[in-house]
Amino acid sequence: MKTFKEISPYAIENNPFGMIGKDWMLITAQNGKDMNTMTASWGGVGIMWNKPVAFIFVRPTRHTFQFLEAQTALSLNFLPEAYRAQLQYCGSVSGRDENKILKCGFHVCMDESAPYFEESDTVFICKKHYAQMLTGESFMDPAMDKACYGDLNYHKMYIVEIEKVLKK
Ligand SMILES: Cc1cc2nc3c(=O)[nH]c(=O)nc-3n(C[C@H](O)[C@H](O)[C@H](O)COP(=O)(O)O)c2cc1C
Repeated sequence: MKTFKEISPYAIENNPFGMIGKDWMLITAQNGKDMNTMTASWGGVGIMWNKPVAFIFVRPTRHTFQFLEAQTALSLNFLPEAYRAQLQYCGSVSGRDENKILKCGFHVCMDESAPYFEESDTVFICKKHYAQMLTGESFMDPAMDKACYGDLNYHKMYIVEIEKVLKK
């Protein structure tokens, strides 16, 4: 197993559209003795408040949501293509029902307060700075609101500082 090296966010060579939208990421957080992870493919990276940040969007119905609400630390894990089945599983089963981390056989590493997975190729260690629910009235086009949130299960947006990038 290769070891991680810390790199600057500016040294990331992969395309962020591909990393998030096509390869997907695992949002992982811990609260006390409990830990959970879920697959996400909506979000982005950029600069906010002069800091490198990621934007993630999590519905309150996700088990992961309560971990994000309780803690400021989290990690975004980008795994190689060989783990596609595990990513699919972590995006279709809830941590309320199964211990997904155990079932996937992921090895948990700790970076101060944020857990991450040894199986990852790239890890963002993040700190939550800002959180806000999306609302229907904020959409310019009501059709878009209806198409994405007809069930009113709006995402909550988190703007998280990328404090550390770990790369194999
Ligand atoms: C490819 C993929 C991408 C997903 N992206 C998101 C996302 O960005 N935000 C979200 O709230 N749920 C997303 N989901 C759904 C959650 O991963 C899924 O509901 C998961 O089972 C939640 O797990 P949890 O209840 O343990 O938190 C995605 C699922 C898949 C398969």
